[in-house]
Amino acid sequence: MKNLKAILQRAPARTMLAGALAALALAGPAAAQDKPKAEVMHWWTSGGEAAALKVFADQYTKAGGVWVDAAIAGGEQARAAMVNRIVGGNPPTAAQFNTGKQFDDLVGQNLLNPLDQAAEAGQWKSFLPPAFIEAASRDGHFYAEPVNVHGQNWAFYSKEVLDKVGVSAPPTNWDEFFAAMDKIKAAGLIPIAQGGQPWQEHITFATVLLATSKEAYEQTYVKQDPAVVSTPGFKQAADVFGKMRSYVDPGSPGRNWNDATALLITGKAGVQFMGDWAKGEFKAAGKQPDKDYYCQVGLKGDQLIIGGDVFVFPKTSDEGQLKAQALLASTLLAPDTQLLFNIQKGSMPVRKDVDATKFDACAQKGMKLLADPAHQVAVVDMVIAADLKGALDDVVTKFWNDKGETAETFTTQFGEALKAAK
Ligand code: GAL
Repeated sequence: MKNLKAILQRAPARTMLAGALAALALAGPAAAQDKPKAEVMHWWTSGGEAAALKVFADQYTKAGGVWVDAAIAGGEQARAAMVNRIVGGNPPTAAQFNTGKQFDDLVGQNLLNPLDQAAEAGQWKSFLPPAFIEAASRDGHFYAEPVNVHGQNWAFYSKEVLDKVGVSAPPTNWDEFFAAMDKIKAAGLIPIAQGGQPWQEHITFATVLLATSKEAYEQTYVKQDPAVVSTPGFKQAADVFGKMRSYVDPGSPGRNWNDATALLITGKAGVQFMGDWAKGEFKAAGKQPDKDYYCQVGLKGDQLIIGGDVFVFPKTSDEGQLKAQALLASTLLAPDTQLLFNIQKGSMPVRKDVDATKFDACAQKGMKLLADPAHQVAVVDMVIAADLKGALDDVVTKFWNDKGETAETFTTQFGEALKAAK
């Protein structure tokens, strides 16, 4: 129940109304009676996300279904609206969550359909990465359908801006990084394009932590060991993260992630730390890797934070909805859907049998790391409960936005949040 509370608390009340109104609007004239109608809730509203979502909708329609789109902007807001609809007894056919623990309480309250039949029919276990099988299953049963692998710790650089300041390639150590940021600042441009929301600031911190010390990253998020904050790796990461605060523009607070990506696309900013869904924005803007932008995994290109998106299928006894759920579950993981969707989304397919050569140079870098367990770690949401993630988001965003906060107070408060969750 803690996770549900955490999810509901983090979205403004107006969203609940929006969710309810959206549901009412959707209840308009029924679509063709004889086709399985799927109302799908998600938060893919940016240019790149919408282009990818359209692949799912088109493929479902081609398979004989009727897609009823229920998009709500913002992951936190959307998840709160989904939980409200499902707990409130008016569930959609399917709802998007992240790979990980966000839907634990819905499973615990027996509000989701187990997906073992679909997994059997689709032979999911023959191609899903083991970590994703585990993240989508509870007590040996599938309760979620993973649909992609998003690398979460990419550094995207504007080639135009780096060329302008004489930086020929993405930096691979922090000294080089800050030297490049100083050049961009001196040129009157925005060094770091940062979206000003807690989850985005936490992505930047997690990227810095992993780039500084994989051991500290795993001690923090996998072991959730409060003692990590006294280790040299965590402390150095806190110093680097604190130093970054003076390289963002005053417009950063409240900025959406895709608006930060737009600063790179329009040559106004140097770098954005973000998941590779940002690649979907470059693609939607007709930009190419290495021609218009650089994509670097973290700082040294050697450790990928993997996570992604899943769909859950709320419990229903309605025969029509069960049919729609079965058709949707088979459509989302079909090889052709996986190829088309992930190219648009900027993510990597969860199927190993999708032709990797069809993906761009950035995805190729990611897939190489994805193929080797020694070069990847789980995204924070996969390993910690939603309420602890929220508590850590709060500590990170407080440090990031309060210039009076020091790396020392940040590490102390981070350690306390980990301790409180024990
Ligand atoms: C992530 C999700 C991505 C993208 C991103 C920004 O949680 O996995 O697919 O939507 O949010 O909205």
